[in-house]
Amino acid sequence: MNEEHKKSILEKYKIALQKGERFWPDSIYKDLLVSFAIFIVLLLMATFIGVPGEPKADPNDTAYIPRPEWYFMFLFQMLKYFPGRVEWVGTAVIPGLAVLALLLLPLLDKNPRRHYSRRKFGLTVMGLVVTGIVGLTIVAFATTPPQAEVEVAGSLAEKMVLGQDLYSVQCVECHGAEGEGGEVKGVEGFEGVILDPLNSSDVMYTYTDESLANVIAYGQQVSAPAMPPFGKSYGGALSPSEIDYIATFMRYTWDDRAELPAEAALPGIPVLAAGEVPSYEIHIQPLVKRYCLSCHRAGKENNNYLMGTYEDMLNTGDNTPVMVAGDLNSITIQVLNGTEIPDPKTGDVMIHQMPPSKLLKPEYIDMLTRWIMAGMPNTAAEAQALMPTTVTPTP
Ligand code: HEC
Ligand code: HEC
Repeated sequence: MNEEHKKSILEKYKIALQKGERFWPDSIYKDLLVSFAIFIVLLLMATFIGVPGEPKADPNDTAYIPRPEWYFMFLFQMLKYFPGRVEWVGTAVIPGLAVLALLLLPLLDKNPRRHYSRRKFGLTVMGLVVTGIVGLTIVAFATTPPQAEVEVAGSLAEKMVLGQDLYSVQCVECHGAEGEGGEVKGVEGFEGVILDPLNSSDVMYTYTDESLANVIAYGQQVSAPAMPPFGKSYGGALSPSEIDYIATFMRYTWDDRAELPAEAALPGIPVLAAGEVPSYEIHIQPLVKRYCLSCHRAGKENNNYLMGTYEDMLNTGDNTPVMVAGDLNSITIQVLNGTEIPDPKTGDVMIHQMPPSKLLKPEYIDMLTRWIMAGMPNTAAEAQALMPTTVTPTP
């Protein structure tokens, strides 16, 4: 840079300095432009990327620890140092003093110098405040236990999947896998109760999504045995969001007026090709979840036979093993076909047909039978290894 150039820059700088820039409207105008640009970006992001869903607020959920956004975590941390009755010191007095210090700074430090080595007082005050905020934020994140993960559905497709899973676990034992109703069997306290189908317009037309959610949350009694309450607030197992997912699943599955968009269609239980060996991972798990898990989980009457995992399915049960590789006389194959197993001592029925109220569709009985005959392979690769090379599994 030559002297000439330097001079002209200095000259321009001087003129600009003299003229100055007005806060109103010059500065405000620039601020407005930038805020507007940020607003547009947020709008686009909200439209095209979306906002992550959070579970519905549940006033009875005592496990939930409310958390502020990250930029308020330092105040949150203050609450830990000033708990209970001295809370106001940590939340009002100390932050108030810090803000006051920043407000008064231009009055306390009128030093016209701009180089940082000459601005010790101003920089020290600012530095203390910033270090305090950053430090408290870091400590807050390091010491606050993470919130328990809750499965939250954003899209309709996710709601349908979660809703169907919840329906399978909570409702199938009484209302049937397809909401078909009928005589309840194998459920403590509901033996022989006859339920009207849920999967009909008679029922679905009479409920709005909200009244449906209410029946699930509070239960209902029109005739003798009552529908038990499922809402957490009423002693059940389901949060308000989970009840919503079930209601959504029921609406789109059984209400013929509600048309499910193609992209939200539920994945079915895969169909087997001729000669194909099913695996737990791909075929058996969704089947069992749909038709058996509602009774075969902890806390239910089921001869202690749990079906939540591969290992449990093979190793639990009062009469374990209920499946013997390659054995057509396996207990499971017998009960799936409607044979009742008598107690060897008393001769009374020890195990009824399974599922107790209605046998599975023939293709599902065949699927479970093929799986047991092939030796109960867990993964798709293990099942593949058991197949003749000419069989191509369905995707
Ligand atoms: C232990 C058995 C049992 C379970 C499990 C159960 N229900 Fe029920 N449900 C009943 C009975 C019994 C009734 C009939 C009560 C009445 O209205 O008299 C009923 C009624 C209903 C009704 C009202 C039907 C109508 O005709 O108006 C709906 C809707 C319903 N249940 C949904 C569900 C959902 C969803 C679940 C799973 C979260 C579920 N139920 C789990 C026993 C059960
Ligand atoms: C409505 C509840 C219910 C459903 C659904 C159900 N079970 Fe059961 N299961 C029971 C009960 C109750 C028993 C205890 C024996 C009895 O009362 O028959 C049992 C027992 C069994 C046993 C014997 C376990 C042992 O060690 O004695 C097997 C095997 C079994 N079930 C398989 C299945 C399979 C496979 C499915 C799904 C296709 C299924 N069950 C669905 C209620 C159910």
